[in-house]
Amino acid sequence: MNSSTRSIGRSKRRAAKASSPTSRGLFLRNFIKHPAMVASIVPSSARTIRRVLEPIDWANTDVFVEYGPGVGTFCQAVLDRLKPDATYIAIDPNPDFIQHLRQMIHDSRFVLVQGSAEDVNEILKERGFDHADYVLSGLPFSTLPPGVGDSIARATAKALRVGGAFVVYQFNPKVRNFFEPHIPKIDSAIEWWNVPPAMIWWAWKE
Ligand SMILES: C[S@@+](CC[C@H](N)C(=O)[O-])C[C@H]1O[C@@H](n2cnc3c(N)ncnc32)[C@H](O)[C@@H]1O
Repeated sequence: MNSSTRSIGRSKRRAAKASSPTSRGLFLRNFIKHPAMVASIVPSSARTIRRVLEPIDWANTDVFVEYGPGVGTFCQAVLDRLKPDATYIAIDPNPDFIQHLRQMIHDSRFVLVQGSAEDVNEILKERGFDHADYVLSGLPFSTLPPGVGDSIARATAKALRVGGAFVVYQFNPKVRNFFEPHIPKIDSAIEWWNVPPAMIWWAWKE
């Protein structure tokens, strides 16, 4: 596992927008550099963000994890809903995205980790947590290196508390096959107002 940062003090100023031209340019450049890992040309739409986060029980969320925050498309929306004493751990291997998020988000609940989602249990443990309440993922499971998707799904099933959920949005319906063997109780939806339309799954740990 690699470096992590916790910002000092909770800022009243809102984060720079993930939909700004700078963020979108960074996203596109990184799609060109790492097509298999970024796997999308534009970040998720505002409607997708609202829909994905809707079923989350925020009052009972102490630890929220996001895999692959990229330019931070979901970050402000999650912070807006999260309790003041909760923790939001965002994990991404891409140093350009990590640097961008470090500059963009100043909130003491936000913990940025440069690393892989495969190591989620170690990342939680190092920060004193046994489990996550929810794990959000826009990971391109089907284009990750062989074995990585399965390893992330297995680690996530272990990391979640009972009653928590693995919240996944992606464009390829086959992505479900990665996590269904590990977390089989799944609700699903399609958000058409996204480029391309997004599949959304909420896989509930029993
Ligand atoms: C399609 S982008 C999603 C960006 C953003 N969540 C959104 O909705 O616009 C995929 C992200 O997954 C990240 N990623 C790739 N492999 C990863 C891994 N093993 N662990 C965590 N994040 C990973 C990429 O760096 C990229 O930020």
